[in-house]
Amino acid sequence: MHSILIVGCGSIGERHLRCFQRTGRADVAACDANATLVQRVAQQYSVTSFNDFNAALAARRYDGIVIATPAHTHVPLALAALQHGAAVFIEKPLSTTLAKVDELRDAAAKSGRFTAVAYVYHLMPWILGAREFLRGGELGRPLHVTIATGQHFPTFRPAYREIYYARHESGGGAIQDALTHIANAVEWLVGPTTSVFCDAAHQALEGVTVEDTVSVAARNGNALVNYALNQFQAPNEMTLSIHCEGGSVRVEGHEQRWSVFRRSTGAWEHHKAAPLERDELFIAQANAFLDGMQGKPTPLATLDEAAQTLKFNLAALESARGGKAVKIV
Ligand SMILES: NC(=O)c1ccc[n+]([C@@H]2O[C@H](COP(=O)([O-])OP(=O)(O)OC[C@H]3O[C@@H](n4cnc5c(N)ncnc54)[C@H](O)[C@@H]3O)[C@@H](O)[C@H]2O)c1
Repeated sequence: MHSILIVGCGSIGERHLRCFQRTGRADVAACDANATLVQRVAQQYSVTSFNDFNAALAARRYDGIVIATPAHTHVPLALAALQHGAAVFIEKPLSTTLAKVDELRDAAAKSGRFTAVAYVYHLMPWILGAREFLRGGELGRPLHVTIATGQHFPTFRPAYREIYYARHESGGGAIQDALTHIANAVEWLVGPTTSVFCDAAHQALEGVTVEDTVSVAARNGNALVNYALNQFQAPNEMTLSIHCEGGSVRVEGHEQRWSVFRRSTGAWEHHKAAPLERDELFIAQANAFLDGMQGKPTPLATLDEAAQTLKFNLAALESARGGKAVKIV
């Protein structure tokens, strides 16, 4: 059994707590600054709880710490977790600025502890299948990537006005909250972003002013990439197409499948994953983190990959403000 502390037991933290428990490999404790909330969670899942992070660290030793607080608090909490001697699993996005990100990468390397960032698309069988196929190289180089995605965010997160989402400074808005998942997945599939031209606006969500709609024209090395994302459309859909020299690969998140269209055969060949509930994805993610702690290979996003995607987030915000393309170095 690994002792795991979950810091931040709000929407995603509670899910992490439940899913780490369901691996059967973790003895979980809960920490949240909101005493009422953490008491409720502790009762529901029969776990020890703390309403102060330092008190939780002082109480016992943890093998792993999961940081599921708003993004602007991730880096300082992760540094303290490494200092404690724990492996660290950080929710996306890694942060809201580059401050102390290099310090965190150095501290992680020096500690020798496993670290990863919870970009959960890395566990989706339809992303993993497409990635493995692309890496096989049969279709040649990726040249053009298009993504159309959206969902009705208020349906999935009715409290969006009251949480981190309402402000850029705490990781809010469509770019840092939703687009970052896709940008990270695209970087994982075709390589890092090198420039970003972003247009973004608040179009529909009531009670907030942050952008809920984004259009991006990016370059990931030689590949041109187009993102179209909004958070008000009724259908919850994600279609990602990667057009290569010899054919195309398509991922349809809402269909839980990836497909290949070879120029030579002229038809789609679909690869549909077995139906997967949301918790199953997070149980797989928890197992991957525990595997990583045991020195096994995992598909989880590394700190370096998450730091690169943080640069994408910041470049997209800067470009949307300034109306110009921003290079990522
Ligand atoms: N991977 C995903 O699918 C996914 C989904 C939702 C959110 N997230 C990410 O997870 C993070 C949290 O999002 P959420 O929706 O759970 O937010 P939330 O507001 O529901 O929960 C955050 C919790 O952190 C607690 N907290 C804040 N600072 C703390 C501190 N210093 N010590 C202890 N507790 C503290 C708050 O009291 C709150 O309960 C964000 O970075 C978000 O982007 C990821």
